[in-house]
Order: sequence, then structure tokens, then C-alpha cells
Amino acid sequence: MAILVTGSGAAIPGNKVTNDELAKRVDTTDEWIRSHTGIGARHFADDGVLTSDLAVEASLAALKRAGKKPEDLDIIVVATVTPDYLGFPATACIVQDKLGAVNAAALDVNAGCTGFIYGLDVAASMLAAPRRTTALVIGAETLSRISDWNDRGTCVLFGDGAAAFVIEKQDDDEGRGVLTTWLRAKGSGATSLYLSQPRRDKTFEREPYEAPPAIVMDGKSVYMFAVKAITDTIEALLEESGYKLEDFRWIVPHQANARIVQAAAKRFGIADDHIYMNIEEYANTSAASVPLALNDLVEKGLVHRGDLVMAMGFGAGLTYGGVIIRW
Ligand code: COA
Repeated sequence: MAILVTGSGAAIPGNKVTNDELAKRVDTTDEWIRSHTGIGARHFADDGVLTSDLAVEASLAALKRAGKKPEDLDIIVVATVTPDYLGFPATACIVQDKLGAVNAAALDVNAGCTGFIYGLDVAASMLAAPRRTTALVIGAETLSRISDWNDRGTCVLFGDGAAAFVIEKQDDDEGRGVLTTWLRAKGSGATSLYLSQPRRDKTFEREPYEAPPAIVMDGKSVYMFAVKAITDTIEALLEESGYKLEDFRWIVPHQANARIVQAAAKRFGIADDHIYMNIEEYANTSAASVPLALNDLVEKGLVHRGDLVMAMGFGAGLTYGGVIIRW
């Protein structure tokens, strides 16, 4: 049995904020952001819109493309670092309810910007059980809500959005589907990229929380980690799968920084027209970044049945890893 990708969809908030518009509120310039990251704009969710709302919009589009109803779903996995509730319940449960997916189990995966790749692996593994056939894997974020607007080194990097994929366990004699995943973590780098949040470490403490949660990042160490994470992931996926880089129609990296991707591409000699980038339009949308890019390929008609695609992520945790899918 294969795990086939049968439908995808995205939710892009309508509020597009260019670098020039952001520069009216943050001490930055379009020139700095573009030259350091390749970002030209980001989309922010309207006030009141939650991560689950974006996830549901993307999911309905994915279900429609797959020809599935919410009640067909056995599993819903939401990869996110900006859940509706910090802690619990899982955003996947909110999504399950809003969709009316009455037969589905639902759980969140917190693996930073590698979340969608981890989520795909979790869902595909869960589909191995008898009677389960259909899963929805969603990457969804409202990073605007946890950005530190006083830290120009981080707040210019992130955007909001969601993308969802339906995957199904089916017979297939063309060698299609989710073929290989490779996942790793490096928890020793946990404090290079984390969400600062008030946290009680004493029993019976009653003092009020002081500050809202906000992204804290050591940009330079994350940059160095990211370049190595991409190269390690490509090498591992090639070794595990036996494929060569030239077999791949698309390499789809996490859209964190165009310079990180260029450094890795140079090392392997990968041509630009084999790497899919959309960071210019969406910025870094964390767990939504890889599925948004994959969905772009679908919507633009750039990926065809039988094409081999490698996608990879790296981010908070620290986590990294990748997946090979034959479309
Ligand atoms: N606009 C204008 N100037 C800015 C700025 C901004 N948004 N952010 C930082 N600067 C300034 C700094 O103040 C500093 O000025 P100084 O030299 O006068 O002190 C200068 O630019 C260089 O800052 P630095 O932090 O050294 O920049 P950098 O070249 O390391 O680039 C990042 C910063 C964040 C772009 C880079 O470190 C990076 O991409 N890291 C990885 C981030 C990432 O991908 N995170 C997500 C992983 S999932």
C-alpha cells in the first residue's frame, strides 16, 4: 500500500504587508530585508482570525480537491507553533470540530518549521493501522501574534498562512506517494529560537504573568544551523532512498531565508529552476511554509504525476528533516 497525496489547499490572509509598509511601523527598510532574507512581503491574519480558522479554510480546499468529505477523515494532524490555545487543547481538535470531522482522531505536532514534515510522517505512520485510510495534514500559523514588534531582527521575518494536504492509503503500482522521510532533532539548540512566555516553576505561585509570549532568536546561530541542516538532510535522503539529485524535479526547502537556501544549493550545484521559492511573497510562515510551497506547485501546474519532489524543513527545537514524495 502507498500513501498518496490526493489533494491540497491553502489559506492566505488578504492583508498583505510589503516591506515598505512594514517600514512605517518598524525601524527597517525594504533594501535591508530583501538583501538579508529575500523577503518582499508577508500576509497577516485579520484581527480575531485564529490559526484554526486558517487551517479550516485550507482544509476545505484540500478536501474538495481530494473529493473527500470531513467525515471521511481518520486523522487530523495540525503542525503549528501558534496554536489557538498555548498548551491545550490541541488546535487539531478545534479544526476537527469546525470541519465536522466526526470520525477523526486529532493531534498537534510542535516541531517548529519542520512541523509539516514531522506531521506528514506521524500521519503516514498512523495510517499503517488497519481500517484507517485517510488523513489531513495541516501546517498553519499566525506568527504575527507572537512576533516581538520591538525586535526588528526577528519581526520582519515572519508571516501568517496555512496549507493542508489530504493523504490516503491506496494501492499503487507506479511507485508514487510518500516514499522516504528522515527526521532529526538537536535539542541542545533549544534556546537559539524559542517563544518567551511567562512560566511558573513554583507551586502555589499567584503573581500575575508579566509579558506576552514573543519570539526570541539568535539569528546567527540559527543561520549556521540551518545551512548544515539542509545539507545533512539532502545527503541523508539521497543515501536512504538511493536517488540522485538529478532525479528530482523539485527541491522544496523551508522558506526561512533565501540566502540559507542559496548557500545549500551552491554546495550541491542545484540549479535555480529545480528549487521552489515563494519567500518573496509570504516570508517565513514556519510550519505552513513547506506545505504552502508544495501547494503553490500544484496550483501553478508545476508538478505532475510521477514527478519526484524532495521537501525539507529546519527550525525551532531545533528540528530538521525532509521527505521524498513521488507525485
Ligand atoms: N532592518 C534594518 N537593520 C536591521 C534589521 C532590520 N530588520 N535587523 C537587524 N538589523 C541591523 C542590526 O541592527 C545590525 O546593525 P549594526 O551592524 O549597526 O549593529 C545589522 O543589521 C546586522 O545585524 P545582524 O543580526 O548581524 O544581521 P545578519 O546579517 O545576521 O542577518 C538575519 C540577520 C536574521 C537575517 C540572519 O541572521 C538570519 O537569517 N538568521 C536565520 C534566521 C532564520 O531563518 N530563522 C528562522 C529559522 S526557522
